Amino acid sequence: MGSAAEHEKRVAAAAAAELVENGMSVGLGTGSTVAHFVVALAARRLELRCVATSPATESAARALGLDILPFEGDHALARLDLAVDGADQVAANGWVVKGGGGALTREKVVAAAAERFVVIVSADKLVERVAPPIPLELLAFGSSSTLDRLGHARRHESPPTPDGGVLADWLGPVADPGALASTLASTAGVVDHGLFPPQLVSDVLVGRGDTVERIPGGRS
Ligand code: 5RP
Repeated sequence: MGSAAEHEKRVAAAAAAELVENGMSVGLGTGSTVAHFVVALAARRLELRCVATSPATESAARALGLDILPFEGDHALARLDLAVDGADQVAANGWVVKGGGGALTREKVVAAAAERFVVIVSADKLVERVAPPIPLELLAFGSSSTLDRLGHARRHESPPTPDGGVLADWLGPVADPGALASTLASTAGVVDHGLFPPQLVSDVLVGRGDTVERIPGGRS
């Protein structure tokens, strides 16, 4: 695709690929921006150990020759040097919304496992404040009840996640992302939500035209 936003995604992805050093363990996010990152990373021909947050990223990365390791089981990596992922919204107060591609739970686990978590976006993803929809992953068991208790939430018509979860969106108010994150996390049946706190984010790389702007995250 040749849109301005697509170009900016590619520019941000190329900058993130330059952060990777030989021998690193790298978490690969999910989505169209990460697809550019995977191409740029593979082109560097480094010795890397990678983990992928979705089957789509895994197969794209493998096809380009990247070494993808399982991220489950006793022998899986416990820590990653770096994780790189896209986002749906990056707010001025540092909160990031993810999960538009349905991989939010695995994406949050991989971001939390990494010493450094870098978000790559086109400039249109920058927003003044976080707004709905906020993607959710629900346990399939009791998901109608979970949606009913949440109230302002709607089930997606998409297939289950690789972990068997049901995807949905929170559509209610998001006046205080921290308070909403706590409410969602403490709702029985919610596996995880797409609100990523500033403390999880090391840097945001924003493609703006042909240039890259770096916004420090709450973890930098
Ligand atoms: C997938 C995600 C994506 O990173 C997010 O939706 C951004 O996607 P894209 O890079 O295609 O704009 O969170 O679950």
